[in-house]
Amino acid sequence: MIVLVLGGNSEIGLAAAEKFAEHEKAEIILASRNEEKARENASALADKFGVKASGIKFDALDYDSHREFYESLESRPDVVIQAFGVLINQKECQQDFEKARQVIEGNLMGAISILEIIAADFEQQGKGTIIGLSSVAGERGRQSSYIYASAKAGLTVYLDGLRHRLYPSGAHVITVLPGFVPTKMVAGRKPKFGETPLPVAGRDIYEAWKKGKHKIYTGKKMRWVMARIKALPEWVILKKRDI
Ligand SMILES: NC(=O)c1ccc[n+]([C@@H]2O[C@H](COP(=O)([O-])OP(=O)(O)OC[C@H]3O[C@@H](n4cnc5c(N)ncnc54)[C@H](OP(=O)(O)O)[C@@H]3O)[C@@H](O)[C@H]2O)c1
Repeated sequence: MIVLVLGGNSEIGLAAAEKFAEHEKAEIILASRNEEKARENASALADKFGVKASGIKFDALDYDSHREFYESLESRPDVVIQAFGVLINQKECQQDFEKARQVIEGNLMGAISILEIIAADFEQQGKGTIIGLSSVAGERGRQSSYIYASAKAGLTVYLDGLRHRLYPSGAHVITVLPGFVPTKMVAGRKPKFGETPLPVAGRDIYEAWKKGKHKIYTGKKMRWVMARIKALPEWVILKKRDI
């Protein structure tokens, strides 16, 4: 089995890749803008789990390179974890459209560009799983995060629709909605609704694949936390300034 991680230095992506290496002895390909770091991470995985692992170049925003990137892989992956993402402070995004653009492109456009190419291949093969890392942020618009959240809301709907399209072919798509997971992406931020430890997020993603799930939250509590947040009337949200 081959697992390709897009955004190969993502801490959540790596935590999930570890589980595939540990339990499936999967070959891991880490695809990242920072190829050197991806090679270091790959070599650590290979040493720890005795699997084949490599680091290769991939930029989610270099749309023109995506077809060649995928077609030049030595072997086609069985599982693709779309882990790249961009989080920039909401206020900075409000004040500077360039930052808002980076957030929308880095979470949504890049994913659509590369995943459409992979989806077409998986559909034709009639197998393969795409695991997309979206976010609970996309489940309800809030003043503190609505630009990042709107990109993730778009990604969630995109992944859900892609799953619907691929279903008859036998290929599968899993939508992952992490809550707060302490990684470099959220360094210096405080969780608003509790946090999910990194190894738990990695395990939950692997188990979602193993059990053939369609859509998961990471961590035990997040499904219930989000059910409550989604159920809050709009007037309650409007008066609550701390979420
Ligand atoms: N941590 C959380 O609390 C949390 C919560 C909800 C959802 N998520 C989502 O989960 C995913 C993984 O996040 P994480 O926590 O593991 O964060 P992370 O460790 O910061 O990983 C994000 C990765 O995205 C990569 N990336 C950004 N732009 C890219 C581009 N143009 N091309 C290729 N790679 C690019 C970065 O690569 P470089 O190393 O090259 O910079 C970085 O390694 C993200 O989509 C994030 O939005 C995270």
